[in-house]
Amino acid sequence: MIHKMGIIGFGGMGEFHFSSIREKLGDCVEVKGVFDVREERQQHALERGLLAYGSRESLLSDPEIDLVLVATPNNFHKEIAIDALRHGKNCVCEKPVTLNSEELREIFAVADETGRIFTVHQNRRWDRDFRIIREIVNSGIIGKPYMVESRVQGSKRVLQEWRGRRENGGGMIYDWGIHILDQIMWLDKSKVKEVYADTFSIFTDEVDDNFKAIIKFESGLNAMLQVDTNCFINQPRWHLLCEDGTAVITDWACNGKIVKLADDKDLGWDSVIVYTEAGPTRTMAPRPRETTEELPLPDVKTDWCEFYRNVTAAIEGREELIVKHEESLRVMNVIDALFESARTGKSVTVNI
Ligand SMILES: NC(=O)c1ccc[n+]([C@@H]2O[C@H](COP(=O)([O-])OP(=O)(O)OC[C@H]3O[C@@H](n4cnc5c(N)ncnc54)[C@H](O)[C@@H]3O)[C@@H](O)[C@H]2O)c1
Repeated sequence: MIHKMGIIGFGGMGEFHFSSIREKLGDCVEVKGVFDVREERQQHALERGLLAYGSRESLLSDPEIDLVLVATPNNFHKEIAIDALRHGKNCVCEKPVTLNSEELREIFAVADETGRIFTVHQNRRWDRDFRIIREIVNSGIIGKPYMVESRVQGSKRVLQEWRGRRENGGGMIYDWGIHILDQIMWLDKSKVKEVYADTFSIFTDEVDDNFKAIIKFESGLNAMLQVDTNCFINQPRWHLLCEDGTAVITDWACNGKIVKLADDKDLGWDSVIVYTEAGPTRTMAPRPRETTEELPLPDVKTDWCEFYRNVTAAIEGREELIVKHEESLRVMNVIDALFESARTGKSVTVNI
């Protein structure tokens, strides 16, 4: 069955959904039309062969549309998603789904009441770098993970337009933070026990343009999440410390490696001091080469199309949603705690 979709907010991301669906998902979704408050985007939709509805109401009143994508700036998501659900539409909403967990609960209440499918476009669950890390953890190849660092770093500084404005839900916690938090919370489903966030507003007074956060899980995993917008020399995208080895993914091209303990025999205490260029050390002196083994990263295949295939299968009652309500709510609860930590300057004890 082909589900007809309407897009509300036809900017950069609305267009990404439309182009990707047309190119790859024609067997299950067809974008019929859009509504955008900007005339030039309405015009652009017409040029792309789509219908440009004169209002949100007219899009939502079209009986042919059974799926609505909300891709407006963040602060409008709640109102539009609820409106779509109340018009009997199934709804996919861009991230961050809402600005806080309370708003999200309001959407879920309407989804329950109307019996419609509602889910969040957490597309970065399908990113190859993340899937490689997940595969390393799940395979146990280097043992139990206890520290993971996930960094997204760029140098374009200024947050453009609404992304730089507080009232629109701008800032990097909402923009990139939610993606890398969702990844980590999908990787480790144990309870989050403590969070800490340090936000920076270097080039704007209104929102966080850089942040660092620590998420501590009941499993013993500590995650360090970092987003920078003024970084000219990037650190590795991922750095994973497990009991029997370390994995690194250095860049967006998914380059990296695993270094695994070859033999966990006691190396003994080497009393010899090693004199490095930087200074003397015993504890941090390099290991003998034969005690470790270097492995390539696992070859992982991933396909973002699974997101829409799952949404349409859920509408047809054939599958459970991959991006589940309880998962989105947990993520938003952690986001609330991160903002509280940033405000108070203290870590926040939670049980999420
Ligand atoms: N999942 C991802 O990887 C990803 C990537 C980028 C953006 N996003 C999300 O997608 C959403 C849109 O981001 P974007 O980059 O496309 O922004 P954008 O500014 O390019 O597009 C937003 C569009 O919404 C329109 N709009 C604003 N208010 C509206 C309203 N009330 N009704 C209808 N249209 C309205 C604007 O005119 C604009 O064309 C945001 O929530 C953002 O966080 C997600």
